[in-house]
Amino acid sequence: MHTYTHVDNFYSPSGICTGIKAEGVTRVAIEPAKGCCEEIFSTKIKEAKPFVKWAGGKRQLIPTIDEFVAVANGKVAIDTYVEPFVGGGAVLFWILSNYDQIKRVVINDINVDLMTAYQVVRDAPEDLIEALAKLQSKYYSIKVDERMVFFNQVRDAYNKKELDSVENTSYFIFLNRTCFNGLYRVNRKGLYNVPFGKYVSPRICDETNIYACSRLLQKVEILCGDYSQTIGYANQHSLYYFDPPYKPLSMTSNFTAYSTTAYNDEEQIRLSAFCQKIDEAGSLFLLSNSDVSQVDHGNCFFDDLYRDFNIHRVRARRMINSVASKRGDVSELLICNFH
Ligand SMILES: C[S@@+](CC[C@H](N)C(=O)[O-])C[C@H]1O[C@@H](n2cnc3c(N)ncnc32)[C@H](O)[C@@H]1O
Repeated sequence: MHTYTHVDNFYSPSGICTGIKAEGVTRVAIEPAKGCCEEIFSTKIKEAKPFVKWAGGKRQLIPTIDEFVAVANGKVAIDTYVEPFVGGGAVLFWILSNYDQIKRVVINDINVDLMTAYQVVRDAPEDLIEALAKLQSKYYSIKVDERMVFFNQVRDAYNKKELDSVENTSYFIFLNRTCFNGLYRVNRKGLYNVPFGKYVSPRICDETNIYACSRLLQKVEILCGDYSQTIGYANQHSLYYFDPPYKPLSMTSNFTAYSTTAYNDEEQIRLSAFCQKIDEAGSLFLLSNSDVSQVDHGNCFFDDLYRDFNIHRVRARRMINSVASKRGDVSELLICNFH
């Protein structure tokens, strides 16, 4: 007979602790365990983090953003949170972990494969983990200097766009973990073109985090398309957080290729008009963007666009930049319609 002990990193999305391990048995037994679920969930779920690395990720800015969310929450009882440019979801997972009273959460992004990945993580975490585990063991079984060939095969198969949603998501996460700098970038034809990243032991299958994300995503409505389709959620108890592709700080730093659609000044102007609408509907909003005035003194692009709102300049660390020397502290804008 075996003595069973709890393994604190196995969860099912239904909220039942399923991780128990028999002494001397390496494989985990999938059986319900009593008594420990709540405690483990409440500590571990808080650690859910984005399941993909994403350019413009807001992890570093979370303490600052949280201060603004707390102020908003003190002004009105927020029951709906909307994130129309969700990307990797650093702020989303923070909100889901820390603001229990928000009953309705809506996310959107124009990137189809990203939003499919959110759906798969929410609805089919077991299948996804199985597919990722296979990719990971295949990848680790290949000699380090021969792995690029496998990476290119996966990228070609992914670009054929013939995969089912679970397989597509497993390839999407695999490429994100093994490509150069965790970037997602497509060419004009919409084909993913980031090169191999040469990491020795990238974490391709992070089972614990996928289950933690899945559990938190259960109450999330997932949309895919232009951010304007989120207008229907604007009311006096909703908070929007907008994190659009940033206006480039210089002509050479124009990383805005998350999708085939260009994100130019006209798009920034369209978004400011959308914020006006959200404001008129009585919703609160918070919006991030670059502070172009720090490199181009006298450039009042955002100061003019958002003159009716409150503009704050905050310090942020930017991690994704292909040139190491350009990763560092910059100031960014946080614009909101509340004090
Ligand atoms: C700066 S990133 C968001 C980063 C995210 N906050 C994070 O923590 O990873 C901007 C996102 O906007 C998306 N996007 C670009 N144009 C869009 C549009 N018209 N509507 C909705 N999403 C769009 C991109 O696909 C990208 O994921």
